[in-house]
This record gives sequence, structure tokens and C-alpha cells, in this order.
Amino acid sequence: MKKLFTPIEVGKLKLKNRVVMTAMDLSYTAEGHVTDRVTAFYEERARGGAGLIIVGGCKIDEYSGAQQMMDISDDRFIPGLQRLTGGLHRYNSYVAAQLFHAGKYAHSSEIGRQPIAPSAIASKFTREEPREMTKEDIKRTVENFARAAERAKRAGFDAVEILGNAGYLISEFLSPVTNKRTDEYGGSPEARMKFGIEVTEAVRSALGKDLAVLIRLAGNDFMPGGNTNKESRVFAAELEKHGIDAFNITGGWHETRVPQVPMELPRGGFAYLAKGVKSVVSKPVIACNRINDPLLADKVIRQGSADMVGFARALLADPDMPNKTREGRLDEITLCIGCNQGCLDNSLRHRAVECMVNPRVGREHEVAYKVPATHPKKVMVVGGGPSGLFASKTAALAGHRVTLFEKDEKLGGQLFLAGAVEGRREFRPFMERLARQAEMAGVIIHKNKRVDEGVVKREKPDVVILATGGEPVKLNIPGADRGSVVHAWDVLADKTDLGREVVIIGAGATGVDTALHIAQMGTIDAFTLQFLFDNKAEEVETLWELSNKGTKKVTVIEMQDKVGSGIGLSTRGMKLGMLSRYGVEVKTKITAKEITPEGVVVVEDGKTKLMKCDSVVIAAGVRPAEGPHEKIKQHVSKVVVVGDAKKPQNGYQAIRDGFMAAREI
Ligand SMILES: Cc1cc2nc3c(=O)[nH]c(=O)nc-3n(C[C@H](O)[C@H](O)[C@H](O)COP(=O)(O)OP(=O)(O)OC[C@H]3O[C@@H](n4cnc5c(N)ncnc54)[C@H](O)[C@@H]3O)c2cc1C
Ligand SMILES: Cc1cc2nc3c(=O)[nH]c(=O)nc-3n(C[C@H](O)[C@H](O)[C@H](O)COP(=O)(O)O)c2cc1C
Ligand code: SF4
Repeated sequence: MKKLFTPIEVGKLKLKNRVVMTAMDLSYTAEGHVTDRVTAFYEERARGGAGLIIVGGCKIDEYSGAQQMMDISDDRFIPGLQRLTGGLHRYNSYVAAQLFHAGKYAHSSEIGRQPIAPSAIASKFTREEPREMTKEDIKRTVENFARAAERAKRAGFDAVEILGNAGYLISEFLSPVTNKRTDEYGGSPEARMKFGIEVTEAVRSALGKDLAVLIRLAGNDFMPGGNTNKESRVFAAELEKHGIDAFNITGGWHETRVPQVPMELPRGGFAYLAKGVKSVVSKPVIACNRINDPLLADKVIRQGSADMVGFARALLADPDMPNKTREGRLDEITLCIGCNQGCLDNSLRHRAVECMVNPRVGREHEVAYKVPATHPKKVMVVGGGPSGLFASKTAALAGHRVTLFEKDEKLGGQLFLAGAVEGRREFRPFMERLARQAEMAGVIIHKNKRVDEGVVKREKPDVVILATGGEPVKLNIPGADRGSVVHAWDVLADKTDLGREVVIIGAGATGVDTALHIAQMGTIDAFTLQFLFDNKAEEVETLWELSNKGTKKVTVIEMQDKVGSGIGLSTRGMKLGMLSRYGVEVKTKITAKEITPEGVVVVEDGKTKLMKCDSVVIAAGVRPAEGPHEKIKQHVSKVVVVGDAKKPQNGYQAIRDGFMAAREI
């Protein structure tokens, strides 16, 4: 680790390291006020070693954003904000407030009025039409930014960050797609920059020279007809002349078709956008998006793509990531896996932000990390899936003597299987590291060891945590036991070969992932794509074909009218888009009645017909695995059933279950 933990100057601030926690609307506030939940959340990140923490977004006025966001639009919010900054300063972290105005992305139902924007162009994100800002609106909004900045100063912040990206107000002015004004604020690139520059100057003048001013810009809007990585450089270079001290460069707009933050985005995939801006400015540049690993972050800085790295979700997953890195405890870090299940999926529903891999997120004020057991017990955990692994790690950290038994060679349970899918690859290293952390905490792991009544009688544990997970639901129709029929789990475990034409029965989360996995068979991998591209071996169109068209013809059928139920809000649309890109045919409201040597007999619109295929894959859901539960209960005073063994849901719930069960031993 050579650069991430070297100091850097941003304006007059001397940051102890280059770890920046970027803004996240947490939805922990009641009517905009800082709560104990907010302060506990941020203090844990400051204690964990982040050099600069950007809190918010903070609404600057009544048009800016949703009810549950932090608010800096009035003096009455200052005492809470002062409590927050005071708490963070105790840990030698600098703290910035993000000044937030959503523009046309604000929802009228949340702000109680029609949103405002440079032009009255309906938002694809909210499906609402904003009102075109008058000159009076523009003047007032610039002043509101300045007043909010001045309040930030009084509340003890060291810096503010102006939100100028993602399709929010300032980026709407910058973009020719959303700015059709014919006055001095629209038309040429210079005119479209005018609003952002006025805001920057007003904020700078409200703060004076001692506080730093950062701006968050889209490295590329990724919007058809919008600003690209060329224009973002021009904006950054211009804004630098007007008092910006650092540039926080992220990806594109919320409504872009280019996925911005899912697991499918390769780690560090947008660092090149920061590199582009860095080539034209002299002030520090922050690279963002899916830089979840401090080693990668260090590399991004060392290679010269950026001066600092922005981590949002990585610090949800592990608030102590900076300190653990500095101390060389890399294996102890829990990396964000980009699933969005606890954070963005909650946030999009205005629910409090949580995290799949860190069940304490949002509960820092009430749930301690480690509670030493008053009476350490002998704990047996049955099952090495996410629930069992998390339970065993938590119990061992509390001081219990823990042994985990897994019947298979591989740990990770269903999440290990899920990790076979290209876009879900983070699940495997996550499971591997969780197992390693459990061992480091003292858990003894036995693989290839199925637990039955006899094992429990021999081991004589005080407590058993049964995390035996789920097993696939078998389809009860004629022909379901034919040789041409396999289960999705067997496909993902690479235990079987498939014919050319494949029908998958069931289009829930597993059916969709399995369809993508099969559709990708025979496509070229990333290295081959790069090789062919670098050597100009094939036309771009051919390369697209080669990476999107495999060797299988895949059809997914579903009884219900919804495909991908169970997939989070932030991810489902992208996955449906991928199915279409890979040429997977999706059919809903179809019921499979029989499997014959020719294919699947289905009923659609009351008509029976044959869907010809070579292989049938069943993805009809999961039920609790049959296990030794009842027999075990006779020999142990306390048996807790967790995860899918209790009720099949998902890895997110399984981890929470394991965590809670271990705490309650
Ligand atoms: C393809 C696929 C994609 C998925 N995608 C997601 C996703 O994106 N997000 C999400 O949150 N969830 C996802 N899930 C669901 C998630 O994987 C499960 O809900 C989760 O793994 C359940 O965890 P668990 O620990 O309770 O059980 P499991 O993961 O089923 O693990 C149970 C473990 O217990 C072992 N075991 C069983 N009986 C015994 C015994 N008697 N002795 C010893 N060991 C035993 C099993 O071998 C297994 O390793 C997906 C599942 C699949 C199949
Ligand atoms: C729950 C959640 C809320 C967010 N809210 C904001 C916000 O208010 N302002 C902002 O600029 N970015 C926001 N972001 C984006 C993050 O700052 C960050 O750019 C993004 O998550 C990608 O970086 P990461 O991979 O390090 O998480 C939010 C992200 C999440 C997950
Ligand atoms: S919920 Fe998933 S994406 Fe969000 S912070 Fe946690 S691991 Fe990362």
C-alpha cells in the first residue's frame, strides 16, 4: 500500500489519507434533522479511518429533494449538523456536506410542488414534467446554494461538495438533452455552464478561503445526445478557474441505460473517467464507482488515474476498511459485493439503507460489533452457506467455541452456485473470505461432513445452529424424471451438459440467472474480446456479436406474469435488458404440463402446445432442505434454525438470521 495512506491537500485542508467516503442518502433522518442513528453511522466510519467524509446529500431548499434526506435549508438544522461534525472531528476526519438539488429528478409528491429544471422536459426517471425555471428561480436557487454553504460553515463542516452529476439540477443545465433554453443559460456549452459557475462562485464567496469546495461531476452522462467524457473535461477545466478545490468524478445519469453500480460493472470500471478529468485540471481528482478494494484503490492512484478514491458502499460493507488496510489486516476486510440489495434497493424505496454483508448498517447506535459472551458455549453450526458462516463468525467473535460442519467440499451454499454466473462473480470471493474470517475468529471448519443425529450425540454441543439451507423444488409433472431434465443448480455447478435448444421452467431470480449463464455459453471472454479489439482483428459489430451471442437457444417460461420476481429494484431492469441482449426468449403466463422426449408440453391462453427443445432446466424454487432437525432437538437444549432452512428467502436474509442467532446464544 504505497499511496492510499499518504496525505493530500484539498484547498487548505490537509487530509491524512486519500480515502473519501462519498455521499449517500441514508434515509435515517426524521424530517431532515440529524438523528442519533445518523451520528452513530458516520462516527463509525470516521473511527474506521476515512480521511474525508461527505455527508448527505443535504437539501438546500424546498425544491431539492425527498422528505427523509438530510436538510441544510434552514438554520433550525444547524444544531444537529453541529453535533454530527463535532463527533467526526474527534477522529481526525474532515467532513463535507453535499449540497443537493435534484432538479427535475425531484418527485412532486415528495417536495409538495412541481419540480423545477432548466427546461420543461419530462424526466424518464420520475415520469414527471418539471416547470422551466424563470430567471427569478435561477437567482433564488443560486442564493440558496450559497446560504446552505454558509450554514455548513456555521455547523462546523470543513468543506462542501456541490452536486453536479447524475442528472440532477446542475447537470441538467450542462446537458443539451435537458437544457433547451434560449436565454444566456442555454445554447452553447459556455451558456450551459453558466448556472454551475454561478453556483460555484456563490458558494465559494459564502465560504471564504478556509473551507474547501468540491464538485461532483459525471465523467460521462452516458445519455444519447448528452455530454460525454470530452465535455466533462471542458466543464472541469472551466470550473477550476472559478474556485473548485477538488473534482469528484463519477459515472452517468440515473436514467442512462449503462449500468452504473451493479455487480456486473467491473471493479474500477469507471476510473478512466477520473483519468480524463485529471489530464486537464491541476486540483485533486477523486475516482469512484465499484472501487471496493483498497488494493485496487491504491493502484488507481499509483498509476495516475486519480489522486483520491471515493468509496460509498465499501464503507457500508466495512467501516473499518481504511484502518484494517493501513494495519495490513486485509483478510479481515469485508468487501462490498455490489449487490445493492440492502443499500440502493432500499434507498430507491425511501427505506433506511442497510447492507447485505454487514447487518449492523443503520443499527450502529443500538447493536455493538462484538459482545463478549458472559458464558462461552460449545456451538455447533450445521451448514456452510452464508447463514451458517456468518453465524459461526459472529459467535466465535463473541468468544464461543464454534465448530462448523459442511456436507460438501465447497463452502458458500447456494451463493457459491450463484457465483458461477458471470455477473454474480463477487459471491464466490465473498464466501471464501467469510470462511477465512470465521477461521481467523477461531471457528473450526469440517468440510465433507454431513451432520446427523450421531454426530450431534458425539459432539455434545450446548447450542446447535441449523443452517442447512434449501433444496430445489422438484416439478411434479409427467416426464420430470427424464434424462433430458436437469435442475438449475446442476447447470450452475457444471455437473451437466446441455443440448442446443434449452427451455428453462421458472423465471424467478434463479431462472433468470441460469438463463443468462446458459446464454453466455460459447461467447468470447473479456480477455479474448480485448485481444481481438486491440489487434483490430474483427469489426466492432462482429465483436459485439461474439460477446453477446452464444451457442445455445434459450427460452424461459413462467406461470406468473412477472419475470425476475425477487430481483432487487436496482438490478431487475438491467437483467431483463441482458436477457434480451443475449437473445433469451421470455414467455410468461405459460404452464408446463408434461416433459416428453421432444420438449415441454405447455398450456398458453388455454391452448396446449409443444415447445420443442433438447434440454429442460427446472428452476421452480427452493424449499427448506430435509435434515436431521427433529432428531437433533432431542439431544441439545438449544437448537436455532436459520436462513433458507427456516424459510427460503435470499442470502441477504440468511446472513441477518445467522447474525442474530449467534448474538442470541
Ligand atoms: C442461482 C442462485 C442465485 C441466487 N442469487 C441470490 C442473490 O443475488 N441474492 C441473494 O440474496 N440471494 C440469492 N440466492 C439465494 C441465496 O443463495 C440463498 O437464499 C442463501 O444461500 C441461503 O443461505 P443458507 O445459508 O440459509 O443456505 P444455503 O446457501 O442453502 O447453504 C446451506 C448449506 O448447508 C449444507 N448442508 C445441508 N445439510 C447439511 C447437513 N446435514 N450437514 C452439513 N451440511 C449441510 C449445504 O451443503 C449448504 O452448503 C440465489 C440462489 C441461487 C441458487
Ligand atoms: C444508498 C445510496 C445513496 C446514495 N446517495 C447519493 C447522494 O445523495 N449523492 C451522491 O452524490 N451520490 C449518492 N450515491 C452514490 C454514491 O456516492 C456512489 O457514487 C456510488 O454508490 C458508487 O460508488 P461505490 O461503488 O463506492 O458505492 C448513493 C449511493 C447509494 C448506494
Ligand atoms: S448491500 Fe451489497 S452493494 Fe450495498 S453496500 Fe452492502 S454489499 Fe455493497
